[in-house]
Amino acid sequence: MVQLTTVTSLLAIFSHAEAVRYLGRVNPATKELTWPGTGVAFAFTGTSATIRLGTVSGASSYNLYINGGAPTVISDVSSKSISTPKLSRGNHTVVLRKRSETNFGTVTISNITTDGTINADVIPSRKIEYIGDSITVGYGLDGILPCTDTALVQNNPKTYAALTADTFGADYDMVAWSGKGVTRNYGTGQPDPSPIMPQLYTRWGANDADNSYTFPESATPDVVVINLGTNDFSYLNVRPALNAAEFTAAFVKFVREGVLAHYPDAEYFLVTSPMLNDDYPSREDAQKTTQTNALKEVIRQMNSTAFHLVEWPSQGGDVGCDYHPNAATHAAGARILTEAIRGVMQW
Ligand SMILES: *[C@@H]1O[C@H](CO)[C@@H](O)[C@H](O)[C@H]1NC(C)=O
Ligand SMILES: *[C@@H]1O[C@H](CO)[C@@H](O)[C@H](O)[C@H]1NC(C)=O
Ligand SMILES: *[C@@H]1O[C@H](CO)[C@@H](O)[C@H](O)[C@H]1NC(C)=O
Repeated sequence: MVQLTTVTSLLAIFSHAEAVRYLGRVNPATKELTWPGTGVAFAFTGTSATIRLGTVSGASSYNLYINGGAPTVISDVSSKSISTPKLSRGNHTVVLRKRSETNFGTVTISNITTDGTINADVIPSRKIEYIGDSITVGYGLDGILPCTDTALVQNNPKTYAALTADTFGADYDMVAWSGKGVTRNYGTGQPDPSPIMPQLYTRWGANDADNSYTFPESATPDVVVINLGTNDFSYLNVRPALNAAEFTAAFVKFVREGVLAHYPDAEYFLVTSPMLNDDYPSREDAQKTTQTNALKEVIRQMNSTAFHLVEWPSQGGDVGCDYHPNAATHAAGARILTEAIRGVMQW
């Protein structure tokens, strides 16, 4: 295979022409794919292209899309190389997207080569940012309860979040990590010194230092979707029930100081959890209604017409691993979110 004409032109592609686009929050200093849904996109004229990886840690999973077709699932990146099959000579597009979340593993992108030439990719004009937990990750999405969540069973491209963005042809980034909350993470009964979402949100790559993200102008979203609270609400047998007023106050503080301060012109959609319902753990808790009311109160306190509630009903009995939404529930959630965004954005 012939490499890109010269090393000089390769550098030119990365730093100037930006023909290779990084998808989601990818720190340009490391080119490490951490957050779910991160990846690369490019167009080329030729018959094949290869994405070479630098550092591979853990066992992460990916979807490879060629010319917008059905994805090829890649679950083994130990060869440090992902290639297209031999294609007919001509123009092609390639998109690589991470299915799994940070803690299963990450890869760094070393370089992208083709037997032809790399062309400028089309950059979508619409951008959506998602901030969420395991629901937005796509944890256990492809499994059927009872099952064990794995990198391969996670399927970020099939989440309500990715489906909604795809419907609008929008670029998206996912700041999502399983078990994370606004005031506290998932309750395990063990001390959990790991960061909560307002702290993680300040990172470029998910494993980077706090406050490393620079909020580049070019990545400013038109729409921000926040789907948090499921983990804050978990408590049964391990800790006291959530104080809804504390949750509301922390949510307002995070949105106002952590997000709105960077994206003053965005429209915000706060999504209720399909994993909460009014019967579990007790009718007294009425967690679904309590979370919905808390988000309504957040919106009231934000005192802005840019904030919108999206009510995703409690899911049914067909679920993925550890009671997570399956593909059908995600598709239903996508329809609700799409409708809400369309109404506000006129997309
Ligand atoms: C292929 O892509 C190149 C670069 O974007 C463009 O100039 C050319 O017209 C395309 N050819 C076809 C057949 O679409
Ligand atoms: C691409 O990356 C691989 C692996 O890191 C390296 O061996 C190769 O020399 C690189 N090719 C170019 C053109 O930079
Ligand atoms: C709410 O917004 C309106 C219009 O911008 C403003 O006049 C009012 O003072 C705000 N209220 C609070 C409590 O911030």
